[in-house]
Amino acid sequence: MTQRFQGTVEDIAAAGKLLAAGGLVAFPTETVYGLGGDATNDQAVAKIFAAKGRPQFNPLISHLDSVEAARALGRFNDVAEALAAQFWPGALTLVVPRLPSCPISDLACAGLDTVALRVPAHDLARVLIQAAGRPIAAPSANRSGHVSPTEAAHVLADLSDRIDGVLDGGACAVGLESTVIDATGARPVLLRPGGIAVEEIEAAVGPIEVAGDDETAPRSPGMLLRHYAPERPLRLNALAPQPGEAFIGFGAHGAKNQETASLSPSGDLTEAAANLFRSLRAFDSGDWTGIAVMPIPDRGLGRAINDRLRRAANRDAPLR
Ligand code: TXA
Ligand code: MG
Repeated sequence: MTQRFQGTVEDIAAAGKLLAAGGLVAFPTETVYGLGGDATNDQAVAKIFAAKGRPQFNPLISHLDSVEAARALGRFNDVAEALAAQFWPGALTLVVPRLPSCPISDLACAGLDTVALRVPAHDLARVLIQAAGRPIAAPSANRSGHVSPTEAAHVLADLSDRIDGVLDGGACAVGLESTVIDATGARPVLLRPGGIAVEEIEAAVGPIEVAGDDETAPRSPGMLLRHYAPERPLRLNALAPQPGEAFIGFGAHGAKNQETASLSPSGDLTEAAANLFRSLRAFDSGDWTGIAVMPIPDRGLGRAINDRLRRAANRDAPLR
């Protein structure tokens, strides 16, 4: 059952509690409705992907109620500071390096060492984030392949009974997703055009680069969305480890005594998604010569897990 919340003090407190407990609550921002979950909780983030039915794990935006809260998660260079000062709260997302202490889920960042942050301009959004008391990961609140919702009714049409609640804040003012800027380097890079025009951004911080977004675009470093790949070779669909390899299991395949770790001993794909990037990172160190991963069923979230594993095994594959 999806609960409907209005913008009352009681409802916002209840919705914030749901989020803090790992539930999914859709909420209005000035751009589009977001499908919110605790950004620091791998399991909640895995449920976001499951609810959307996304066949890929794209990194998600973490939403904050203030610039200070954002600074506690990522490293802000001069460009990031200038953009935050000018456009936050607002329809701008900044991709910055994660701080070592950043508690955002590896799954929300798709294993990357960068994090996407936004302080939305919608009052209800910021009050809800405050009530939840943590950063809120939120892609647009629609099923994969559908258009982004700008009213609570659109959210319910797509996600009714797949999420725990929706906070109704009326129609979104902008109706277009946020502009995403990579602010990890000295020169900002446009990753996605959106609610704030490139011209406005250039007026604030000077010329920006535009990332190539298709496979035929020139592949200069930093121009494509990077994706996580371990340094050690990754071997997929493995039934047993070779000497020196870490062996990541899944389900009850009878190989337990050989497993270094399991993505989900019970064969639960949401749990496996929640553990995926952490497990890969954990064994990409020390004396392991490589990482072998057991076959993962190619259904539900398993499709997104397999997509990520294939890309991680082939580090040069472009990310769409
Ligand atoms: O307006 C919006 O941005 C809405 C509302 C709910 O805030 N959210 C939204 O989220 O559109 P989503 O998940 O659909 O889009 C996130 C965008 C994607 O283009 C993703 O590739 C990019 O942000 N992104 C997130 N983290 C990134 C990272 N670490 N590096 C590069 N790009 C990243
Ligand atoms: Mg979307």
